[in-house]
Amino acid sequence: MASAISIRQPAQIYEQEAQHETLLSKLKLYEIMLGSAKPMALRAAVLLNIPDIIAQASGSLTLEEIAAHISASTESPPHIEYLFRLLRFLASHKIFSEIPHQEDFKQSRYGLTGLSRLLVKETSEGGVSMLNYVPFLLGATSNLPFQGWLHLHESVLEGGSAFDKAFGMSAWDYAANNPELNKTFNEGMSCDTRAVMASVVKVYEEGFKKITSLVDVAGGVGSALSIIVENYKHIRGINFDLPHVIATAPSIPGVEHVSGNMFEHIPSADTIFMKWILHDWDDDDCVRILKRCYEAIPNNGKVVIVDALVVETENDEDEQEKCLRDVGLALDMTMMLFTGGKERTKMEFKKIIMKAGFKSYTIFKLPFVQAIIEVSKY
Ligand SMILES: C[S@@+](CC[C@H](N)C(=O)[O-])C[C@H]1O[C@@H](n2cnc3c(N)ncnc32)[C@H](O)[C@@H]1O
Repeated sequence: MASAISIRQPAQIYEQEAQHETLLSKLKLYEIMLGSAKPMALRAAVLLNIPDIIAQASGSLTLEEIAAHISASTESPPHIEYLFRLLRFLASHKIFSEIPHQEDFKQSRYGLTGLSRLLVKETSEGGVSMLNYVPFLLGATSNLPFQGWLHLHESVLEGGSAFDKAFGMSAWDYAANNPELNKTFNEGMSCDTRAVMASVVKVYEEGFKKITSLVDVAGGVGSALSIIVENYKHIRGINFDLPHVIATAPSIPGVEHVSGNMFEHIPSADTIFMKWILHDWDDDDCVRILKRCYEAIPNNGKVVIVDALVVETENDEDEQEKCLRDVGLALDMTMMLFTGGKERTKMEFKKIIMKAGFKSYTIFKLPFVQAIIEVSKY
């Protein structure tokens, strides 16, 4: 009688393992090569208003019901099979929840997840949600970054931002000459600001209590400062940015808008606040900006930087740490694309802070990629 036991020879095992590894590498490579499907499908879902349609139903909806809502606002029914494929794909990445219907795909149900809830524009009371990331998503998936990415290899060869190479001018000059982009960019920045400032005002509470005057350097249209002065009414706020940005800034009680160039002069105050600024610039430019900050504050003044802090070591075992590092490094590539700037590790921050003449700094961690770095002259 033939034995049921088969013994695999080592060579066979190695061959199978090698095949398995090759297959995994091939799949991983395809995942990367086809990676733009994810943000672009998400953009399509947002332009079709799907997160809001589901949110208004306060539960899940069938594909047919979602299609009916889309028809009601666009006055033409969507292609139901395409809509199904879009939602099935996004659900496979946990952007929507899905209960598939085996016999009739139109009866498959879709709901929101933690991720798509961040893309709901309307609050249950009918107002605009202050924590929606739609403007950020629409900016990040517009043609501008894609045109820039095509020039990334030239940046690596020659330095300088890929955006400049694609458009022949800096992102700031482009925004100054394109009111529509200026608006999209400022709205995108403001939605990140609203999200991060909710923690900044809590984590840096002791610091804010001691401040009397504060300049938000390159503060955009004043979103961060409006949140600071709303929480700390004793602070006199100055929002400082380029003229084309200040020209579109709304009036904010307790805030004066001042236009100028931070490389030349920064208005005086006892504290300088800078959110998402140093990451726009290379080390030499950061030292120049920090020196202008040094001149603008008294000896006991502070510079409060809010910027991403790149996690230095890889830790695949802790999912959150891994995600923080991945997002930090993706932001770093995005800075290489848009401005030629960079995201920094703690040591890289220390280098530019000390070079500008400051003597010490304290880091306050925030529950996201950014941290607060409080810099002092002594
Ligand atoms: C990444 S955005 C950050 C805006 C804001 N701090 C925030 O977090 O929402 C960078 C800002 O730097 C401003 N900026 C660029 N160059 C500048 C300069 N030379 N002087 C003053 N502001 C400048 C831009 O207009 C833009 O508002």
